[in-house]
Amino acid sequence: MKTKKVKTEAGSFPKFALHQGLPPKDRKRWQVLCGDRNHWRVGYYSPSDGSNAKVKQLETHTCVELFLLLSGKVTLILDEGHGEYELPLEPMKPVMVTGWHCGFCPDGPYTGVAMVVERDRFSTALRDRVL
Ligand SMILES: [Fe+2]
Repeated sequence: MKTKKVKTEAGSFPKFALHQGLPPKDRKRWQVLCGDRNHWRVGYYSPSDGSNAKVKQLETHTCVELFLLLSGKVTLILDEGHGEYELPLEPMKPVMVTGWHCGFCPDGPYTGVAMVVERDRFSTALRDRVL
């Protein structure tokens, strides 16, 4: 199984305006909105895949990651070492994730958006799925 490593360094978020809304871009799989250097960052996750079968890779980080559904539908694919399973996100029910994960929008690419909170500095491993 092929695995790729990616490092995210401190200050891993764009400059952002204070005291006003941070509007998301349309049809973007992952966009980091803001953060607090050496502590946390927040982004919008809107999967570009429209089904489980379209997801080609899972990722895992050296930190936990929080997902909160903001709009539409997003289903996570999770694997903590006992096989993959699906977890549909629900509004107002944040989920902390560890282990291998990725997601898809069951109603079509980019039709759901989840807020993600994670550290400002961590490592990611990506592995190809065997479907
Ligand atoms: Fe992740």
